Amino acid sequence: MNRFCVFLLLCLLTVSETVLGSVLAIDYGVDWIKASLMKPGVPFDVLLNKDSKRKIQSSVGWKQSDRLFGSDAFNIAGRFPLDSFSSLKYLLAAPHDSEAVSFYTSISSADVVETSRGTVALRRSDGTEWSVEELVAMQFAYVRELAESLAGERVHDVIVTVPPYYTQFERDAVVDAVEIAGMRTLALVHDGTAVAVNYAMTRTFPDPEYHVIYDAGASAIRATVVNFASVASDPKAKSLTKDSTQISVAGVGFDRMMGGTELDRRLRNIMLDDFRRKHKKDLLGDKRAMAKLWKEAGRVKTILSANADATATIESLTDDIDYRAKLTRAEFEEACQDLKGRYAQPIFEALENAGLTLDNVTSVILTGGASRTPMIQSAVKAAVGDSKIALNVNADEAAVLGAALHGASLSRQFKTKDIKVSDIGVYDIQVSYLSEPKSPSAKQRTLSTLVYPTGSKTGSKKTLTFRRKEDFTVNLSYQKPPPGGFPTELLAVDIIGVSDAIRNLTELGAIEPVVKATVTLSDSGFVSIKDAVAVGEYKAESIADKLKGLFGAGSSSETETEAETETAARDEGSSSSSSTAEASSTADKKASVKDEPISLELQINFPSLAPMTVAEKRQARERLIAVDNEEAAKRRKEEARNTLEGYMYRVRDLLDDDSDTPFLKCSQDEERKAIREKLQETFAWLSEHGDDADTAQYLDKRASLEVLERPIIYRYEEIQEFPHALNNSQMWNWHTRLFLTDAKTNLTTELETGAPSKYTKEELDALEKTLIEHEKWLNEWVEKQKAVKMNEDPVLLTSELKARAKVLENQLQKLVRKKAPRSTTKKASTASSTGASETSTSTEPSSTTSAVPPTDESERSHDEL
Ligand SMILES: *[C@@H]1O[C@H](CO)[C@@H](O)[C@H](O)[C@H]1NC(C)=O
Ligand SMILES: *[C@@H]1O[C@H](CO)[C@@H](O)[C@H](O)[C@H]1NC(C)=O
Ligand SMILES: *[C@@H]1O[C@H](CO)[C@@H](O)[C@H](O)[C@H]1NC(C)=O
Ligand SMILES: *[C@@H]1O[C@H](CO)[C@@H](O)[C@H](O)[C@H]1NC(C)=O
Ligand SMILES: *[C@@H]1O[C@H](CO)[C@@H](O)[C@H](O)[C@H]1NC(C)=O
Repeated sequence: MNRFCVFLLLCLLTVSETVLGSVLAIDYGVDWIKASLMKPGVPFDVLLNKDSKRKIQSSVGWKQSDRLFGSDAFNIAGRFPLDSFSSLKYLLAAPHDSEAVSFYTSISSADVVETSRGTVALRRSDGTEWSVEELVAMQFAYVRELAESLAGERVHDVIVTVPPYYTQFERDAVVDAVEIAGMRTLALVHDGTAVAVNYAMTRTFPDPEYHVIYDAGASAIRATVVNFASVASDPKAKSLTKDSTQISVAGVGFDRMMGGTELDRRLRNIMLDDFRRKHKKDLLGDKRAMAKLWKEAGRVKTILSANADATATIESLTDDIDYRAKLTRAEFEEACQDLKGRYAQPIFEALENAGLTLDNVTSVILTGGASRTPMIQSAVKAAVGDSKIALNVNADEAAVLGAALHGASLSRQFKTKDIKVSDIGVYDIQVSYLSEPKSPSAKQRTLSTLVYPTGSKTGSKKTLTFRRKEDFTVNLSYQKPPPGGFPTELLAVDIIGVSDAIRNLTELGAIEPVVKATVTLSDSGFVSIKDAVAVGEYKAESIADKLKGLFGAGSSSETETEAETETAARDEGSSSSSSTAEASSTADKKASVKDEPISLELQINFPSLAPMTVAEKRQARERLIAVDNEEAAKRRKEEARNTLEGYMYRVRDLLDDDSDTPFLKCSQDEERKAIREKLQETFAWLSEHGDDADTAQYLDKRASLEVLERPIIYRYEEIQEFPHALNNSQMWNWHTRLFLTDAKTNLTTELETGAPSKYTKEELDALEKTLIEHEKWLNEWVEKQKAVKMNEDPVLLTSELKARAKVLENQLQKLVRKKAPRSTTKKASTASSTGASETSTSTEPSSTTSAVPPTDESERSHDEL
């Protein structure tokens, strides 16, 4: 019973253990990827790459057929400008003719082409095209592998940071890339919000505080106004329960086209102009030169962040012209003069959206790589005042660490500080639909309602009520075009089966049946219509109510709630009631007179940019897996070739060494000759076919050499092993002899005294016979073996020595283990039985009792070889 419980408990533990997966957080930036893994038992930190760096350059590329990641991929841009892909974040879901794409082509030498979906792909020098989602997925998969080698298990769940201004199209692209990389998106979290989570982790807020998270990244500057408040989770038991922290995003401001990359671009243009002046040559069309300039611009910008001037140096920038120029910070800042007013602007936009002023804010927390650029930092200081500036979070890592903590709390598998997050959307989202025609010929009006205005909480639902009798379409769209050149139209949702449902409800006696559709803005910022129903209300006299009355339901709570129908009536039969999930559910409860709602079918269409279809994603996933498999096969082949080559050089060294090596001593002339010939043949094969051979051929070649070396190795091993094996045989001879002498003496005594004897004479004679035969065999064959030369095969094998010694040993042990006979007198019994057990329990002869004389052979140790 007890054991069963323990067993059950263990099972439960194992089950929950396997359910406990790790959570990977990825902060995917234009320049850098940062990642962090949350796994029980693994210290919480950012993930290190293969060079133990804390961030990975956001690049993927190919050097001929070798795929590269991180700085390896970034650094080849000067040589392979068409095969090195960086700053891909600009291109996620970007329409081919968008501002985002034209900006990208001004900073990158990569070849941008249009996909069938209207988004972009990049074309490699070999002509293959890779969608942005596929390229980003490769980077996600690379991070996944790093995480898996740390976790020691498969990593499935990932939380990815996205900028708050990301459109639904871009969010879809991130989720698709995660799926193509073989993972699941646990959530998307806004980067500013992730920093706030990280900030709250180690702090408490006895009085609510507002802070601005100012994030100057490579692609954009954004500011997030966050309210932090500590709340006792259970006011009644304040001292016992742990406090939780509520983080509420109150406002967001951003400048999508202003970030570190724009500064790099300005610096690159300074060099471009300078080169044009000095060398009377335009580099714009020279992809290699442009890629080299781009890399140098990034390097020089970093130097200018800490120094007043820097020297740009690019060897053979073009046509063997080396470029060298002194650049000053003043010159750089002059070139960025027009941007100055934009650096701090997002802070004021965020405050305005939050309905606050700087006075309400405790601090402005600076994060993001570009926040270190002096002109940006000083602009922000000038705008908000030095005293408000806080540099108390890690500008690079706060977002990814916060995202990991948030992911961990979402997955509910980890004990983390209880932090509740409430975030907002940053765009006005509206629904539009056509009014119901008054008459078949009347023109329909387009009606629009702002369903989620800027600042609406994410993770909320709203119920829209429509008075319709036919199928209709509800469009969801951004009210204004989002910056970057993304479309406004999000979804067109057909609501199907309306006329049938309404007719049925009417036949049942419903008055003014309506269609209700639930619109959601998810925690990850996706807007959608999740379900739609037709519902009606019934007069007391209706058939349905009579039926209800019969079954004793409903009649008591017939007090009508007109809230919903009133709103519905407001706008000639079609309007929306914007209420939160809670509000609508209470309304439903009160309106218990309503009959069961009839579910309607939804058909979701993508009027502008569609996310990838299931088939497209599967195809992309298979494509990536094929690349992985190809690379694995290539690695195996390289390994086989390297092993073969290593082996060949080793054998050649053995052959060439004419000192007294074991190899020389244990081999015969003809054997060495055969090996030498085979080796020469293999070297010739390698130089001729080595580059186009396959894995199996490398393995074969090695095997055919090994087969020649094996007899030599075998001899050598036998020589090494022989003294030990011989020692063992002699030792058992010696033990048996001792035992026999002792036992025979005892037997004689026992016979004389008439005491019961432990062994019979026959048993002892049989053992002695085996012993003598073994001794005789051993002497004879050891003599024969002595005559064998080292480079000849042995006549006496160590395996046979061991086997024969074992036979003797077994026979001896059998007697030793024999139970002492029952004696008639107590004394005799104790004496003999204790004695027996003393000599014999150990099967391993102990060194204290045995001192086997060393033999001639035992001196022939391997040192000689
Ligand atoms: C913001 O500051 C103003 C002026 O100091 C004050 O009146 C207002 O109540 C503050 N608002 C909040 C939400 O704290
Ligand atoms: C809804 O979107 C579709 C597809 O873009 C469009 O044809 C239709 O006119 C839109 N309807 C309304 C009412 O906006
Ligand atoms: C309407 O009623 C008919 C007859 O009872 C039934 O077959 C049909 O499925 C109903 N339609 C809906 C949408 O409920
Ligand atoms: C043989 O065995 C004895 C006793 O165990 C040991 O001292 C000696 O080193 C052994 N010799 C070899 C060659 O193993
Ligand atoms: C012989 O007898 C002595 C004394 O009783 C005992 O200790 C010893 O184990 C016996 N030897 C054998 C081989 O049985």
